[in-house]
Formats: sequence, C-alpha cells, structure tokens
Amino acid sequence: MPANRYIVLASRPTEHAELKHFRFEDAPTPNVQAGQVLVRNRFLSLDPYMRGRMSDRKSYAAPQPLDKVMIGETAGEVLESKHENFRPGDAVVGFLGWQLFGVTDGKALRKVDAKRIPLSAYLGVAGMPGVTAWYGLNNIIAPKSGETVAVSAASGAVGSVVGQLARLAGCRTIGIAGGPDKCRYVVDELGFDACIDYKSENVYDVLKESAPQGIDGYFENVGGDILNGVLPHMRAFGRIALCGLIAGYDGVQIPIRAPQYFLSSRLKLQGFIVSEHLDVWPTALAELRELVASGRLTYRETIAEGLDSAPEAFLGLLKGRNFGKQLVRLA
Ligand SMILES: NC(=O)c1ccc[n+]([C@@H]2O[C@H](COP(=O)([O-])OP(=O)(O)OC[C@H]3O[C@@H](n4cnc5c(N)ncnc54)[C@H](OP(=O)(O)O)[C@@H]3O)[C@@H](O)[C@H]2O)c1
Repeated sequence: MPANRYIVLASRPTEHAELKHFRFEDAPTPNVQAGQVLVRNRFLSLDPYMRGRMSDRKSYAAPQPLDKVMIGETAGEVLESKHENFRPGDAVVGFLGWQLFGVTDGKALRKVDAKRIPLSAYLGVAGMPGVTAWYGLNNIIAPKSGETVAVSAASGAVGSVVGQLARLAGCRTIGIAGGPDKCRYVVDELGFDACIDYKSENVYDVLKESAPQGIDGYFENVGGDILNGVLPHMRAFGRIALCGLIAGYDGVQIPIRAPQYFLSSRLKLQGFIVSEHLDVWPTALAELRELVASGRLTYRETIAEGLDSAPEAFLGLLKGRNFGKQLVRLA
C-alpha cells in the first residue's frame, strides 16, 4: 500500500485563518476491503466554502471535524478496486479531501471522461463551480436577451462562467474584479463588455457610465463595498443571485449600507446553495461540458504544486491571489 500524506484541521480560527490551523500527517494507506476503491488524487479543489467549514458557527453545513482530513473535492484515478463499478485506471471525481490517496466505498465517486475535457476542469468550469454559475444565473436571475448582468469576482471559477453564459444568452455583461490583469482577462478573453477594477476604481461611480440604464441581474460573490456600490444601480424589479459573500468569510464585517433600494427598486434577492439543487445538475453539467468541449466556454486555473502548498494556496484564495479556479496538483 502506498504511504499517504494528508492535512487535518488542527484548530478553529477565531478571526483570520492562518497556517497554524492546519496540520500535516503521514500514515499508510488503508487496505482496500470488499466494495472499496483506492484512488490516487491528482488534483485537489480549493474552494471558499472551506473557510466556513473551519468555523463551528451556525451554517447550512456541519463544521469540518477537528483532527480529520480536510474536506475537499478531488479528481484522480483508480489504483485498485474491489468495487464492481470501478476499474484501475478509471478517471474519477469524489470528495476524498486534502490527501494524496483516498479509500472510499464509491458512493460519492463519479467516473468522468478525461479524454473529452481535461481532468482538472471537472473541479471547475465543468463541475461544482460551473453548476453554481448556471443555477444562479438561469434559475434566479433568469436573464432575457438585451438585459444587463453584472457579476463580482468575475475572473474566478464561478464568476467567469456566469459572465460567459450571460453573454451567450444575449446579455450585456459587466464584471467586477481585483486588479488590471484580472480585468483585462475578463474583457479580452472572457468577452465581457466591461470590467471594473474595484481596487482602483469606485464601483458606484464607474457603473454610472458602464451601466447608464441600470442593472437587471446581479450575481453576487463578494458582498461589502462591492454590493453597496451595485445596489443603487439595480433597475426596478432587478434580480440578485446571492451566491457568496467572500469579503466577510475571514472575520470582516460587511454591512449593507442602504437596504432601502430593495424596496424602492422592488428587488428580488435570493441566496442559494448549489448542493441543494441536485435536480439541475445533470442538465447543467451536460450543457457546461458541451460548451467546454466545443471551446465556447473558456476557463483559467491557478495550480499550486504539491500537497504541502495547499494551506498557503487556500489562504491566498481568501485574499484574491488566485486567478481563475484554484487547484492543487497532487500527482
Ligand atoms: N452558493 C453556493 O452554492 C456556492 C458554490 C460555490 C461557490 N460559491 C461562492 O462563490 C464565490 C466565488 O467562488 P469561486 O470558487 O468562484 O472563487 P474564485 O472567484 O475563483 O476566487 C475567489 C475570488 O474572490 C475574490 N476575493 C477574495 N477575497 C476577497 C475580498 N476580501 N474582497 C473581495 N473579493 C475577494 C478574489 O477575486 P478578486 O481578486 O477579483 O477580488 C478571489 O480571486 C465565493 O463567494 C464562494 O463562496 C457559492
């Protein structure tokens, strides 16, 4: 059996998450029992929701237990199988966590076609973040051709898909992202009509020029000053898909400054958790994978090398150091 290395949650942050909250451990990989599969993880997905799981505050999901392998979605290949549905060499995606190898009963393991699109894409554009974009855009914003749709964290795993799908639906698209490189990418490569660099520009002021008629649909990933800058520009009966509030995940307060706009503009705001809408996943995944395979949906990845780089890469994600989907290459 190969030697395994994994990362556990050592303690819970009270304010900012830090390296000291993680611990590395080494142990032999358990023997594969009847009905089980041994997987070599090739990629680990790092996602903002993991910060929430590190806390034991009330949430939609149970906290990450202390001293257990950190939760995380992985893509890899089957090394050994005593399960009738899996063979050595199968490309698979599962929730095997922050570790090099995982032994599983196969219930949450899905076979994927790594020849059609790259294995790593099943953790991003053609996986959970892609479905998140698809659900919030289609089921909450429900854009009509000719409308204006804005999205924050626009260069990221979710935001980049939101903007491209909105453009394909015939909408005018405005991204909000941190820094000139990300904004250039959002316009030049993702095809958004405009991008606001919230680090050097005032979101409220710039929107007066880039969305003079107002915004019909807003896909919120960040919150705080960005939401406060967008809210006054929402058109009457605008729809806001509240997907994430990353500006507040690491212990920062993010009050809404002027809630009166919800009333005066008769806005709909709906929060959602993509894992609670499993009914749309097959349709969304089929559409996303077809768009990726045909080159109509593009994406970018930031890949940290080796398991040992995972905690630092995760903390970087919470500070916007990633550019596109943040992954860790494990093998
Ligand atoms: N509701 C759901 O079911 C669901 C599912 C998946 C993801 N999400 C949410 O969707 C959002 C995006 O997730 P993702 O996986 O696509 O991540 P991502 O956008 O690839 O990466 C996170 C980005 O957020 C921005 N950011 C980080 N810290 C920030 C801060 N303090 N203030 C402002 N911006 C900050 C950074 O972009 P900039 O450099 O451009 O600021 C960073 O690159 C997150 O809020 C996540 O929690 C929700």
